[in-house]
Amino acid sequence: MKQEETTTLVLDVKDPQNRKEAIATAAAILQKGGLVAFPTETVYGLGANALNEKAVKSIFAAKGRPADNPLIVHISDREEVLPLVSSFSMTARLLAEKFWPGPLTMVLPVSDAVPKIVTAGLDTVGIRLPANDYARELISAAGVPVAAPSANVSGSPSPTSAEHVYHDLAGKIDLILDGGSCEVGVESTVLDLVGSVPVVLRPGGTPAEDLLRYLPDLVVPGLDVAEVEGIPRAPGMKYRHYAPQARLLLVAGAPEKVAATIRKEIASWQARGSKVAVLASRENAAGYKADVVVVLGGRERPQEAAQHLFAALRELDDSGADIILAESTDQSGLGYAVMNRLWKASGGDIIQAR
Ligand code: TXA
Ligand code: MG
Repeated sequence: MKQEETTTLVLDVKDPQNRKEAIATAAAILQKGGLVAFPTETVYGLGANALNEKAVKSIFAAKGRPADNPLIVHISDREEVLPLVSSFSMTARLLAEKFWPGPLTMVLPVSDAVPKIVTAGLDTVGIRLPANDYARELISAAGVPVAAPSANVSGSPSPTSAEHVYHDLAGKIDLILDGGSCEVGVESTVLDLVGSVPVVLRPGGTPAEDLLRYLPDLVVPGLDVAEVEGIPRAPGMKYRHYAPQARLLLVAGAPEKVAATIRKEIASWQARGSKVAVLASRENAAGYKADVVVVLGGRERPQEAAQHLFAALRELDDSGADIILAESTDQSGLGYAVMNRLWKASGGDIIQAR
């Protein structure tokens, strides 16, 4: 059955004159069971009242999201975690103090207050206190915890601007709060605190290096690992997250060798009549004679790469290229999350530069 289209309102929350009214309008929509896309420091979220089963159900419908993929519950103040979980350990308390508000989702034992549809029936729930002021104001004004996945159609890159959300979800949701571009650019780190050792289920905006300072026994799986000693990764990690129209080849190795290999690959694909795009570092971009070159950021600046990653992937898709050659990035800090997303976009198609 075809879903009925709704009119999607866009409100600019950046404009100080509009801010209060935009937040109040959005909060009222959430209270009535509607869907609001809102900015966070990582990516835009598609929010609904987490305690309203019907509202949460409509998130899955709007995104085309599989029902076995649980949602993160967003709060506006640390104390709001307590009714949502059945226990809150000393470790969780410490991490909340150090990393909230911020891009860290903690997976904790769920309480009875959270509807099953939010957690996909798991006995755990992912909780996050976002750092973005508009996000926290919205959640606080709504007065309820807000369940929110990334505000993209399932399978496309996460949105880092209101335009990305509009492109994917116009006609399917009630409102988009336009708060400008997201500053982190990759989704939150999902950290499991329920097992015998803490495990990073999804690398993201809080680097593992920072978590290790408080969690010396933290397990950080390799980029290509689907399961860690019997603990499945975040259910969402099993889905082919972002599958570009074009084939994406990730070129790994020492930086000088990567550039040389990409130059060779460009020539050989073009000789076969393919339209070739490159996802490049700023330092190397000028050296590529490809049909399309998209700059991700400075080679030693993973933060910049993270910020531009999803917009770059959308741009590459729009370019109509047949082949995308992506430089591997530095894996320190946010670089690990960037490489994780590129690895997934490549579907494991890696060229080792020698
Ligand atoms: O930065 C973010 O996390 C953004 C913003 C909007 O907050 N949200 C986001 O949500 O990326 P989503 O639904 O696109 O990704 C959530 C990930 C999925 O991989 C999901 O499987 C995992 O978190 N997850 C959620 N609850 C979980 C749980 N109880 N146990 C294990 N994994 C969980
Ligand atoms: Mg997502």
